[in-house]
Amino acid sequence: MPAKDNVQIAPAEGKLGVLIPGIGAVSTTFIAGVEAIKRKLALPIGSLTQLATIRLGKRTDARTPMLKDFVPLAGLTDLVFGGWDIYEDTAYEAAVNARVLEPALLEQVKEPLAAIRPMKAVFDTEYIRRINGPNVKQGGSKMDKAQALIEDIAQFRESSGASRLIMIWCGSTEVFHRPAAVHQTLETFEKGLCTSDPEIAPSQIYAYAALKSGVPYANGAPNLTTDTPALLDLARDRNIPICGKDFKTGQTFMKTLLAPGFKARMLGLNGWFSTNILGNRDGEVLEDPGSFKTKEETKLSVLDQILQPKLYPDLYKDLYHAVRINYYPPRGDSKEGWDNIDIFGWLGYPMQIKVDFLCRDSILAAPLVLDLVLFLDLAQRSGMRGIQEWLSFYFKAPMTAPGLYPEHDIFIQLMKLKNTLRWMRGEDLITHLGLEYYD
Ligand SMILES: NC(=O)c1ccc[n+]([C@@H]2O[C@H](COP(=O)([O-])OP(=O)(O)OC[C@H]3O[C@@H](n4cnc5c(N)ncnc54)[C@H](O)[C@@H]3O)[C@@H](O)[C@H]2O)c1
Repeated sequence: MPAKDNVQIAPAEGKLGVLIPGIGAVSTTFIAGVEAIKRKLALPIGSLTQLATIRLGKRTDARTPMLKDFVPLAGLTDLVFGGWDIYEDTAYEAAVNARVLEPALLEQVKEPLAAIRPMKAVFDTEYIRRINGPNVKQGGSKMDKAQALIEDIAQFRESSGASRLIMIWCGSTEVFHRPAAVHQTLETFEKGLCTSDPEIAPSQIYAYAALKSGVPYANGAPNLTTDTPALLDLARDRNIPICGKDFKTGQTFMKTLLAPGFKARMLGLNGWFSTNILGNRDGEVLEDPGSFKTKEETKLSVLDQILQPKLYPDLYKDLYHAVRINYYPPRGDSKEGWDNIDIFGWLGYPMQIKVDFLCRDSILAAPLVLDLVLFLDLAQRSGMRGIQEWLSFYFKAPMTAPGLYPEHDIFIQLMKLKNTLRWMRGEDLITHLGLEYYD
């Protein structure tokens, strides 16, 4: 008997517009990648929506369709792109400057990339300190800036012919702020926009404009952004899905692979020292202590939540965890991340593990951007609203309902993601109990 969907999913008809604050290394690697894949110049490695399968029913049923055949996702040829940046460079120029992709590959996708000219950004040097650029909206209150973004969104919708839009923040990391009084309700937030309250960050003005325009919002950086009562309420009231924060790539990806393994085997940990060198613009912005603090918070919280030292004091209560990021221009986007991990086993005997990950930040991030865009669009077409916890898989600091601790273990996150898709399509959830095979 065919399964009956738990949600009604509207078909993915027409074009899907992807609006990106921040036309930098990650976003141009994503856009250039999509264009290259469309032209069959390369494969979408790292993307679940393009490559993963999903098991349905029993292990003996032999039903494992591709994810993209199981749920109706927008196709790559349906994607159209736009964005904002403080620099005037086209996406082609920004991609060349980012030095992530080979010039020979970029040459082959030059035409669509060169056609993407960033719109004028909403920018505030109080929130991002190490860079400044000319392509910025001037004058007016923060509410005027929000209105200008709403107009940009409407114009893009019109000019691109997109039937649906998604906004995904790929801008620099803003300085660390906690939610303030102005973020408590939509009313105080809107008043704050009118009085240009200094506690309202540019990324929040973009998010407000997106939600007001009915556009789902994903946050690729660790900034607070939608993680405030005011914007959460707005997303729920308008029936719009949101997700964040901070793409889970590089070192934190490794951490969420290794730490659940140590805990699964009840091995102890007393030290985890992580250090990175990177030389791209992201690294330059993160040299500023305010922006680094935002990043540090999301990077540090991961281990505590995976290891649960309160439940396992003998194993984890004395863990010393430190994360450093050093700006080192010669490496560009090719980051090197070292981890020294001090673990202990039976009778407390110490051991050490060293990880040296020579990674490429934007190469790891680009497929996450693609999946998030396609899944958020799916969520929107399925009438799902507010925080999409099933997309935690993609984030260092997954957003959760207030009072709920986030799930960081990547394998639990993957199970949650796939079970959500099974649930959407009315398939049995997979619990891995499996007793029926032995009856
Ligand atoms: N690459 C990764 O693996 C990874 C992982 C997690 C998070 N991130 C985050 O993703 C973001 C993008 O990373 P990146 O390597 O592409 O950085 P990048 O510096 O190359 O690009 C960011 C761009 O955002 C622009 N920008 C800054 N403030 C803006 C604003 N208010 N409006 C519009 N544009 C603005 C900058 O001018 C820059 O061009 C960063 O916040 C980074 O911390 C990246």
